[in-house]
Amino acid sequence: MEEIDLSDRVRVAILGATGAVGTELIELLENRQFPVKKLKLLASPRSAGKTIIFREEKLVVEAVNENSFDDIDLVLASAGSSTTKKWASIAIKAGAAIVDNSSAFRMDPQVPLIVPEINPEAAAAHRGIIANPNCTTILMAMAVWPLHKIQPVKRIVVATYQSASGAGAMAMAELESQTRSILNGETPKTEAFPYPLAFNLFPHNTPLNEQGYCTEEMKMINETRKIFNEPQLRLSATCIRVPVLRAHSEAINLEFETPFDVSVAREILSKTEGVKLVEDWQANYFPMPIDASGADDVLVGRIRQDLSHPCGLELWISGDQIRKGAALNAVQIGELLVKENLLGTPQKTISVN
Ligand code: A2P
Repeated sequence: MEEIDLSDRVRVAILGATGAVGTELIELLENRQFPVKKLKLLASPRSAGKTIIFREEKLVVEAVNENSFDDIDLVLASAGSSTTKKWASIAIKAGAAIVDNSSAFRMDPQVPLIVPEINPEAAAAHRGIIANPNCTTILMAMAVWPLHKIQPVKRIVVATYQSASGAGAMAMAELESQTRSILNGETPKTEAFPYPLAFNLFPHNTPLNEQGYCTEEMKMINETRKIFNEPQLRLSATCIRVPVLRAHSEAINLEFETPFDVSVAREILSKTEGVKLVEDWQANYFPMPIDASGADDVLVGRIRQDLSHPCGLELWISGDQIRKGAALNAVQIGELLVKENLLGTPQKTISVN
């Protein structure tokens, strides 16, 4: 087959270019040498005129408008659900494919929800939008999938320790300023979060359903089922926000049909791309957010037999929420679309309201 030269081929727009994830997207496009022909930086009118350096060139941020997508092949969006919903149909009509980091379309049966290491084949069915999963879900899925492939997991029980970055750049700044205030003996200001996060933690503050699960917990349950293509997978989650800047950690309990040998699990995870085994039992050294921050890999360790169940395994993970939890996964989806020639006007478009 003839080799296609993809260098300098794709006209990319970042919607939400000034946010925590948007900033990382720009850096990753440059560092991973994504074949960018032209990069357009879009945000709200508040940011219009700001400049950001890409490949040593000063790019001016534009307020997103009706014509923003006319000359664009790929939109990497991380500007919240309502912004994606507002602009998705316009971008698709203009011929662009959108990789969306918000939850707007994740559970739409017509929209692929992709972790490239797990279900890249699902991308082929896209009709203009590919959803990037929730950050805690991506990180857990990266650690659980390689084991699930060997022996199907029956039940997952997870508790998360989620960083401020999941709530955006303002929330990260708020954690820093709250920490300073408290150390100065002042009362911390809370705007991005409902309660002070510095020197504190609280259950994820998304709306609760009638069973007492918050939206973040339900995302973990429903999105994992969709990514794994296991609609009946049993999963329960407790999501907690902790005063960490940008990496999430998770305690994951897995139950299998039959015992899963710890050394086999360790061997599998040590060879999995995108996962790094971090275990020094002598030094009691395991995955930590400070090591995961700024890294591409999901750190996995403390793999133990569950003492309460012969078919149970315990894992402890840390992963950069902004990177593999969001921007890196989105750029990898973009790379997949380029590699598999899945950009361009889709055959059919989904209805967007
Ligand atoms: P802006 O900086 O102009 O508000 P984060 O998740 O870190 O809070 O970032 C959110 C991103 O989404 C920012 O780039 C923000 O731009 C952008 N954004 C928020 N609301 C809108 C909107 N209504 N239209 C376009 N971009 C938006």
